[in-house]
Amino acid sequence: KSKIGNAYYYPLSQLKEMGFNVEKYPYSIKILIENVLRNLDGEKITEEDLEVIAGWKTGKDFAFSPTRVIMQDYTGVPLLVDLAAMRSELQRRGKDPSRVNPRLPSDLVIDHSVQVDYFGTEYSLSLNMKTEFERNKERYKFLKWAQGAFSNLRIVPPGNGIIHQVNLEFLSKVVDLREHNGVLTAFPEIVIGTDSHTTMADGIGVLAWGVGGLEAEAVMLGEPYYMTVPEVVGVRLTGEVREGVTPTDVVLYITETLRRKGVVGKFVEFFGPALSHLSVPDRATIGNMAPEYGATVGYFPIDEATLNYLRATDRDAEIVGEYAKAQGIFYGIEPNYSEMVNINLSDVEPSLAGPRNPDERVPLKKMAEIKTGNKRGKKIADGSVVLASITSCTNTSNPTVMLGAGILARKAVAMGLRSMNYVKTSMAPGSPIVVKYLNEAGLTPYLEALGFHVVGFGCTTCIGNAGPLPSDVEEDLKQGIEGYAVISGNRNFEGRINPLLKGTYLASPILVVAYALAGRININFETEPVGVDPNGRPVFLRDIWPTMKEISSYITLALNPKFYSEQKGRIFEGDENWKLLPVEGGLTFAWDPKSTYIVEPPWFKESSEFKEIRNARILMVLGDKVTTDHISPAGPIAKDSDAAKYLEERGTKELNTYGARRGNHEVMLRGGFANPKVKNLLVNKEGGFTVHYPDGTVDTVYRVAMRYKSEGVPLVIFAGKQYGTGSSRDWAAKVTALLGVKAVIAESFERIHRSNLVAMGVIPIEADWKSLNLKGNEVVDVELDEMKPRTTVTIKIRGESERTIKGIARIDTRTELEYVKHGNILNYVFKRLVQD
Ligand code: F3S
Repeated sequence: KSKIGNAYYYPLSQLKEMGFNVEKYPYSIKILIENVLRNLDGEKITEEDLEVIAGWKTGKDFAFSPTRVIMQDYTGVPLLVDLAAMRSELQRRGKDPSRVNPRLPSDLVIDHSVQVDYFGTEYSLSLNMKTEFERNKERYKFLKWAQGAFSNLRIVPPGNGIIHQVNLEFLSKVVDLREHNGVLTAFPEIVIGTDSHTTMADGIGVLAWGVGGLEAEAVMLGEPYYMTVPEVVGVRLTGEVREGVTPTDVVLYITETLRRKGVVGKFVEFFGPALSHLSVPDRATIGNMAPEYGATVGYFPIDEATLNYLRATDRDAEIVGEYAKAQGIFYGIEPNYSEMVNINLSDVEPSLAGPRNPDERVPLKKMAEIKTGNKRGKKIADGSVVLASITSCTNTSNPTVMLGAGILARKAVAMGLRSMNYVKTSMAPGSPIVVKYLNEAGLTPYLEALGFHVVGFGCTTCIGNAGPLPSDVEEDLKQGIEGYAVISGNRNFEGRINPLLKGTYLASPILVVAYALAGRININFETEPVGVDPNGRPVFLRDIWPTMKEISSYITLALNPKFYSEQKGRIFEGDENWKLLPVEGGLTFAWDPKSTYIVEPPWFKESSEFKEIRNARILMVLGDKVTTDHISPAGPIAKDSDAAKYLEERGTKELNTYGARRGNHEVMLRGGFANPKVKNLLVNKEGGFTVHYPDGTVDTVYRVAMRYKSEGVPLVIFAGKQYGTGSSRDWAAKVTALLGVKAVIAESFERIHRSNLVAMGVIPIEADWKSLNLKGNEVVDVELDEMKPRTTVTIKIRGESERTIKGIARIDTRTELEYVKHGNILNYVFKRLVQD
């Protein structure tokens, strides 16, 4: 060990004596090596793990111990409900419930539940927050109990921002100092989060990524994290962005480029001469969209810009700089990467991405080519923009585009422009700091004049909580008029923002305001005016576009340490609504049998032994890019759905969203595949229907699955490429298991959903099955050749004829195999707790 100030650290240079020269390794790999070196205990983390990672043996598995876990409320509530259920179960078995506690520092930021019911007035924020507390009272009471009951858990109450922005601005230390084996030790942070965009912290030099809620749960309870040593793609950034190009344009360009290149399952690390032109917020915007370009992380090494940001946000930059330099993780040398990609920032042009995928980049100048119909409704016409939302951690964290939006608004207002009256406008910054600097810059009144009042400090529109559209607009959309959303978010999968929309385009906050003014998606901004002034003169986008010089003149306002030190003291406090919430329960939670939000889950009661799959039926046959939102929707619970009926039977009038009901497995089970956009190829009906065989009855997925369950029939699902794309939503795996699905046979899987499936004991099998021409009435046997990672699988299909194909069981590590053998990760962890 060597010393920095009062703290010791584990120098990587000592590895030379062991025969490992790690000097030219990627920075992210060095951080992983430090972690394994420090946590070597010969039991959970072994010499073999060190050899694998210090030798950068890509494709091999190793174990390490993340330094912090971060959660948001949609994924964090079910995780804490599981921990609460473990406590109750321990108590029932006569054991001490307090054995269940996070062993790692864990943060939960409540940001996902606020919905935009009110907009366009100065009262929007307080009314939305009031409604949020009314709607989510049971969940928030539970979280407040958890805040007091579990040690090592910090909860950021509602109204304080979006998880990744709060992490970036306040929670991340980059280099942490903590007692380790009784000695004060400095080490780089490795943060895992139950949200895919945890990668945003990669922009500040924290190695961070999103994992399944189930993996996070195991890590919180003291299990190591297992992963395959990644290949690292080095992205060499050169050049400088041109005037008029924003950080959002850069990230959309990078997303498109890297998606085409193919970086799924790999680390991406940015380096090169252009790094110095990118501020930490710019890097965070790029790191944020790593899941959209498919990478596990989008890492930016620590450099002077990182230290400047830490100073500006009132954090200890000196220890970070000293440690990073001493340890060889301060940006300097260009590492040897597995592969390289060159990106010249001067090639980036103003763009949007859509209508359905974040990597479908459309240059702004080509938006006019979007084909729309020519129908007119009572309020809107085909091609109308009906939702314009400054939303999401991706961009609201970036002062360049937020100030840019304010400047554009100021110029537009000065020229007498207004937003179209059919556009639902909103602004939901990921941090109250944004309001502070917009106020200080004097830009807030102009944004408000165009309808961009603050509606909340949370995910809102980005997570599908845009709230209802004005009734006349909604009526037109229901009649088939094609309406669009333009949002400053990172995702636009079908149905995510609002199922009635024809499409959603992702864009910078600056363009969001511009489209609210124009009110039309296929406008040619070069030749058509964005609006007309009160004298009837046309105003073009170029007349009101903010220049880089104008934006730069305000940037120092945004990075004012005073703002951060004031806010830092408040983030765990909560407003009056939070303070008034009662706490029910002590060591164990007082489950309320009447609650429709928080219900004790059945994980420890059901049989948990692994079985081979024999005589299974096919629950569904699905196409490519099935998202976690298709599998387990987060949006509104539709009237007449199975979930709605369950809630109505319990006297609940307000159906709310699936996202808000993730503490109730009964609702989530009924919501499995109940997204109107699910296309099951076995039926001609969209949205959660399938066929029961052998009788051929068509019914909802839930009801068909429950019939099969009562008949003792196991189920499989067939799907195309990139199954489970989207988010780290563990409910997508939990609901699959609860429906009785034992294996998903897909052409390929997205990384996090694959591991979530395994964690719930559902076997992800990669196989080329399309040539089978499945009818759906076949019977399926699945045999694993051996109980070992990535074993070959034989799939027998018995229908009119018998056919056999081979696949690979994507149980990737020894530990994942243990999860499957125990039925799921929860039983695996629980059994260890009981035995301890
Ligand atoms: Fe929330 Fe959207 Fe970010 S859901 S965490 S604002 S990506």
